[in-house]
Amino acid sequence: MKENHDPEKILLLNRDEQNEEEPKRSRVWWGPRQWRGLRNLVVVLVIYGAYTVAMHVLAPMQHDEHHHESLYWAKKAAWKQRGPLSPEKVEEFYLSIPDPGSALAISREYATHPHVAGSVEDLNDAKVILKLFQDEFGIHASEDIPLYHAGTHESRSATLDIPKYHHPKAWIDQYFPVMNTPLDRALSILGEDGKPEWEADLVEDGDPHDPDAAKYRDAVPTFHGLSADGEVEGQLVYVNYGRKEDYDELIAKGVNLTGKLVLARYGGVFRGLKIKGAQELGAVGVLIYDDPRDDGVVTVENGYKPYPEGPARNPTAVQRGSVQFISLYPGDPTTPDAPAYENATRTDGENIPKIPSLPISWENAQRILKEISGKDVKAALTLNGKASEKKVKLVNHVDTKVIPIWNTLAVLPGHIKNETVLIGCHRDAWVMGATDPTSGTVSIHEVVRGYGALLRKGWRPLRNVVFASWDAEEVPTVSPASSYKLYVSNVGLDLQYGLIGSTEWAEDFPEWITENVVAYINLGHGQLAHPHRSRI
Ligand SMILES: *[C@@H]1O[C@H](CO)[C@@H](O)[C@H](O)[C@H]1NC(C)=O
Ligand SMILES: *[C@@H]1O[C@H](CO)[C@@H](O)[C@H](O)[C@H]1NC(C)=O
Ligand SMILES: *[C@@H]1O[C@H](CO)[C@@H](O)[C@H](O)[C@H]1NC(C)=O
Repeated sequence: MKENHDPEKILLLNRDEQNEEEPKRSRVWWGPRQWRGLRNLVVVLVIYGAYTVAMHVLAPMQHDEHHHESLYWAKKAAWKQRGPLSPEKVEEFYLSIPDPGSALAISREYATHPHVAGSVEDLNDAKVILKLFQDEFGIHASEDIPLYHAGTHESRSATLDIPKYHHPKAWIDQYFPVMNTPLDRALSILGEDGKPEWEADLVEDGDPHDPDAAKYRDAVPTFHGLSADGEVEGQLVYVNYGRKEDYDELIAKGVNLTGKLVLARYGGVFRGLKIKGAQELGAVGVLIYDDPRDDGVVTVENGYKPYPEGPARNPTAVQRGSVQFISLYPGDPTTPDAPAYENATRTDGENIPKIPSLPISWENAQRILKEISGKDVKAALTLNGKASEKKVKLVNHVDTKVIPIWNTLAVLPGHIKNETVLIGCHRDAWVMGATDPTSGTVSIHEVVRGYGALLRKGWRPLRNVVFASWDAEEVPTVSPASSYKLYVSNVGLDLQYGLIGSTEWAEDFPEWITENVVAYINLGHGQLAHPHRSRI
């Protein structure tokens, strides 16, 4: 039934965020027209973020004894600045640089190819952003790319010597965490003879009108980052969100999950915890799906067409994501509290599941739910512990190994040597990552262009500014290195993702960060989501 929904005020639940972080968070009002304005919002936000930085971090223009030695690139300026610029002039000039055309071009550059962490494309993008830093900050680009193995003297001094810098510097740090990549996966309903009666395709529909989306629809298979390898079968039991209270309710009803395959819907708690709960109760595997009941009113049931024809969730959509047990410890599973150097001493990895799991679509979930309540999907969505008659089989083969990742960093030395402002955004994406993280990367790009233009006028910041393009946020999931005071206001907002690149860097330089970093600005999403929870 369609109620009196104003088409301009379609309620769009940002499911991914709402469910994983705070189940009762207020909803986001959005409409089709606003999609077209999204791009402009990104630009407005870049300007706002830049303005904030300019007001609180940047110094008024001034010349000092280091001016001539440190600002050699000022000579390249198209015109020469005579005398110091007023803060107002600095701000005005800075704000004249971000540009929608440039933002759009950069968005296309990063978001038209898959760049999952550790891939060739990801390394390529690390070099693309290195070149941006070099070009904008007047850093000599030698033939040898400054790509350092974390833990070597070059890598360590690049960060530790920031207080001694007189010239901008940019480099890539390479860490070696353990991650996994999908090999083959299957989901089937078994007949009495143990042979598959039905098999899920486990593929999302691409938008046929979007050549890139269609081409890459299976570029990164639907799987769970850091999921366990295995082939399991068992009767299917629906566990609602798979929260502690859901499992407690089942136990109170006398349900025994030993040997069962669990089906949970996304939302309520972080996905890793759904698996942790099932594993502790003896389940053999976990399937997690997106339930339209969590999509607010914008559903096919309410008469909305699914994406790409309309705003409702496409029933084949699948949420990839990490299933690491973030509550135990963050970062690379095998190097807890220590940086993931190439030759680091490794543990077995205690913060990852021991039972396999797969993310599946609503379409696939409906098919297997029918096995619980005799074709009645709605009846099956009840937390009563009823098991399917037929067994369901889950296959999740993954290659778990050490995979290199690349953080690209750039330093602008400031007047105050012992204080550093860190501006970061992750770069890796599950697939194309137009919103997360490319909207953030685009914001960094425009901020960097603004700083570059100021540098060419002979300006330098009051405090050191470090730009960081982190890698491998998506694959593992870690609590941002809050113990090192690195993250300020939006720790909660980013918990649903991983931040392995930034965590390994924080584990590499904890004392330096504690002593030097005075603020961190995170640009994971560069778009405005909600007045009360916008990110910069
Ligand atoms: C659950 O079932 C398993 C075997 O299927 C059994 O070993 C275990 O004792 C049962 N647990 C409880 C609490 O009844
Ligand atoms: C790690 O060990 C290998 C083999 O001993 C060596 O070739 C490599 O240089 C080491 N890497 C680092 C960063 O020390
Ligand atoms: C930097 O040095 C100044 C002067 O010694 C000091 O007042 C300030 O607290 C230092 N900043 C940090 C972050 O330690």
